[in-house]
Amino acid sequence: MTSALNTYLSRLSIALSTATAPETTDDEVLPDRGISGSAESVGDIPDLSYLSGAREDHLGVAVCTIDGEITSAGTDHAFPVQSISKAFAYGAAIDLHGMDYVDSVVDEEPTGEEFNALSIDRHSKKPKNPLVNIGAIRTHAMLGPTQAERTQRLRDVLDAAAGRPLELHHETREEELTIADRNLALAYMLRAAGSMTEDATEVVGGYIEGCAVLTTVTDLAVMAATLASGGTNPLTGEKVFSRVAARQVLSVMLTCGMYDNAGDWVSDVGLPAKSGVGGGIIAALPSRFGIASYAPQLDLHGNSVRGTYFFERLSADFALHMLDGVVPRDLEECAQELMEVGTHP
Ligand code: DON
Repeated sequence: MTSALNTYLSRLSIALSTATAPETTDDEVLPDRGISGSAESVGDIPDLSYLSGAREDHLGVAVCTIDGEITSAGTDHAFPVQSISKAFAYGAAIDLHGMDYVDSVVDEEPTGEEFNALSIDRHSKKPKNPLVNIGAIRTHAMLGPTQAERTQRLRDVLDAAAGRPLELHHETREEELTIADRNLALAYMLRAAGSMTEDATEVVGGYIEGCAVLTTVTDLAVMAATLASGGTNPLTGEKVFSRVAARQVLSVMLTCGMYDNAGDWVSDVGLPAKSGVGGGIIAALPSRFGIASYAPQLDLHGNSVRGTYFFERLSADFALHMLDGVVPRDLEECAQELMEVGTHP
C-alpha cells in the first residue's frame, strides 16, 4: 500500500527533478498542496560524478525510521558517498580511541571556509573539525596502524551503518588519486605542523577510498538512522557506534556538516547534516529517523542544490527544525494532512 509519506516524497522529488514526469501534466504532479518545488537545474555536476553515471535528472530521496521503516522516492542510482564518509570515520575514531583523545587531536569548531581549505588552528595545530578535508585526513590517520587496517576499518563501519556490504567505485578512486595534490598538501601540512606522523600518501589513499564507496539514498537514510538511533543500525540491530560517538558525530554535523553554508542550513533546515560532492546529503532527527537525498548538481559550497531545496521544503512542511519548540509530528499523519489540506498548520 502506498503511504501518504510515499506520495508526498514522490511528488516532491518529481517537482524538484529536472526530469519530465511520464504521462503526467504539471497540474497532476503539482497539485500544489504545499508540495511544489523548483525544477531549475542550477549548479554543475562535478566531472568526477559523471564517472559513476550521474545525470542531470537524477533525484532520489529516502527516510528511514529508527524502527527500520524505509520510505523512498525517485532514483536509487548508486553514487560515491564522498565526504559523507567523514562523519562515519569520525565516529569510528571516537570508539577506537575515546572522545578525549580524539578531541585532543581534531577540534570541533566550524571553519566558515571551503571544505578543502587549510583549516588548522595556528596555536593548537589542530585541524578545526573532522568534517572538512584536513580534519578528515587527520581522523583517517587514527583508524589503525597501517593503510590497509585504516581503510578496512572505515569500509567496515560504512558497511555496518548501511547494513550491507557497499561496493567501491574503482574508477572514482583511481581518478581521485591522480588529482590528489590538494589533499596531499593538506596531509603534508598536518605533518609539518607536528599533528600527524603517518605517511601522507598512504593516509590520503585510504581517505580517498572511503570517499569512493558507492551508496544509494536508501543506504544513506539507513546510515543516518543509525546515527539518529544512538549508533544502532535499525535494520540489522548491530551496534555500530557507542551513544557517545553517535551524539558527537551529530553534534559536529550540526555545526560543521554543510561547510561554509552551515549557518544557513541550521537556520533553514535545523537538522544535523552532512553533504558529499557525489550529490548526497544525510540528515538526522535524533530518536526519530534519518533522511537522505541525492541530486548531483552542486552549489559553490559543494552541497547538492536540489538536495538543499528538498530538505528546506521537508523541514518546513513537517516542522522538523530541532529548535522550533514543537514536538515533531508523526511523518505519516502529517503527510496525510498535507495531502488533504495543503500546508502544515
Ligand atoms: O577529498 C575530496 O575533495 C573529495 N573526495 C570529497 C569532498 C567532498 O565530498 C566535499 N563535500 N561536499
